[in-house]
Amino acid sequence: MELRQNNTHEYVQPPQHLKKELCDLDYLQDPPRILSNYLVHAPKPFNAEPHLPLLINSGEITPTDVFFKRNHGPIPDIHLEDHRVYIGIQQATQDCRGHPSRVEWKALDMKDIMTKWPKATITASLQCAGNRREGLAQVKEVKGVIWKAGTISNAVWSGPRLCDILKSVAGVPDDLHHEMIRNFHVSFEADDHVKEDACYGSSIPLRKAMDPLGDVILAYEMNGRPLTRDHGYPLRVIVPGYIGARSVKFLQKIIVQPQESTSFFQKLDYKILPPWVDATNVDSAWDLSPSLGEMNVQCVICTPMEREIIPCSKAITVKGYAIAGGGRAIYRVELSTDGGKTWEAVDKLEQTPDKVSGMYWAWALWEKKVPKFNTSSQLVARAYDSSGNMQPEFPIWNYRGVMNNSWFRVSNITQLPQSNM
Ligand code: MTE
Repeated sequence: MELRQNNTHEYVQPPQHLKKELCDLDYLQDPPRILSNYLVHAPKPFNAEPHLPLLINSGEITPTDVFFKRNHGPIPDIHLEDHRVYIGIQQATQDCRGHPSRVEWKALDMKDIMTKWPKATITASLQCAGNRREGLAQVKEVKGVIWKAGTISNAVWSGPRLCDILKSVAGVPDDLHHEMIRNFHVSFEADDHVKEDACYGSSIPLRKAMDPLGDVILAYEMNGRPLTRDHGYPLRVIVPGYIGARSVKFLQKIIVQPQESTSFFQKLDYKILPPWVDATNVDSAWDLSPSLGEMNVQCVICTPMEREIIPCSKAITVKGYAIAGGGRAIYRVELSTDGGKTWEAVDKLEQTPDKVSGMYWAWALWEKKVPKFNTSSQLVARAYDSSGNMQPEFPIWNYRGVMNNSWFRVSNITQLPQSNM
C-alpha cells in the first residue's frame, strides 16, 4: 500500500464530528463476519461474543474471527493512505478570560505511525466491563447488552508506544514525577459515528500512558496482521489491564488535557453506580462514581457449560480463563464440585507475563480434571490475584451492569452413558 508523504508535526485543524441521527447511521458497509462463531446480541451495531467452548478451545491467542466484537455504531470505511491522527495538547482548562483553552494540534499520517517510532509487541486480553452482565440482570433490571461470559479475548498487538509519540510530538515531559504526568489525562476520539455522542471517545490518566511499564500502544497489527475493520482498522489504542472501553478503535484524535474526556463513554457510562441508583434516578447520579479504569479479578468456567450433557464413563476436564486488572498476576484458581462447600486448586494454570515489562496483561488459562462428579451439584470457580484480591461470592448489582466478577457457577450438567448420547 502506497502511503502519502507528510510533513510530520505540521500545525493543523482536525475535522469536527457532528452527531448523526439514529436513522442516518449506515450499517451497509459493515464487514462480513463468521456468524456461526458467535452469540450475536445485536446486528446493528454489531455486538457478539464467541461461544465459550470455541473461545477456550482456540487457545491462548484468540483468532481474530473468534475475538469478541463490541461496537457502538457502524464500522467506518477508512483508507490507510488518507488516515491522519491528530495530536493535541491543551495546557489548561480555561484561558485568562475564562474561555476553554485552545488546543494546539499536529498531524501524523499512518506512514509516520508505522515507521517513526520503534514497534512494540504485547500480548493483552481485552475484556468489556459488561462481561457477565447477564448475572446482574438476573438480580434486577440493568441497562446494556446482556452479555454472557465471552466478552473477553486475548491477542498479540503491535505498534508504537504512546509514551514515545507523546514525548516527541506533544512535548510531554519525560520525567514521571512532573506535575503534568500526575494530573493530566489523555483523551482519545474515534473516526466513527455512534448513537450516544458525536463519536466514540474515552480517556486514561496521563500517568498510565507515560508509564514505560504501562505498555499502552497504538496498535496497527493484531495477531501479526493489519487490524481488521471490526477491531479498529487502521489504528486503535490498546490500554492493557484496563476495561476494553478505553482501547479506542478507529483512532483519530489524541488530546493531552487537564481533565478527563467529556465523552458520553467516559462520563455517562462505564461506572459502578451506587446500589440506590436505577432507571428512575440515573440521570442525576453519574457524578457519584469515578470512571472505570483497571479491571477487577475475574474467573470463568468455559467447559462444561450450563445444561451440557456429558458421558458419565469418563472423567471430565473443566476448563476456563482468569484475569486480573492492572497487570497483576492470577495467583490461584480454585474449583468446587459441591456448590462452593469445598474447594481445590486447579491442576494447570498458565499465564505468561509480558517479556519486556513483566506485567500480566494476558489472561490465565486453567484446567482441572474432575474424576467423580455429582451432577446435582454446581461447579463453581473463583480466582485470587497477586494482590490478594478475591472474587465476591454473590453478584454486586449496579444499574449499568458492569464489572460482575462473582464466583462463576455452572449447574444442570447431565451425565449419560455413552450409548444414550
Ligand atoms: N472504539 C470505538 N471507536 N468504538 C466502539 O464502539 N467499543 C469499546 C472499545 N473501543 C468501541 C471502541 C468497547 S466498549 C470495547 S469492550 C472494545 O472496544 C471492544 O473491542 P473489540 O471490538 O476489538 O473486541
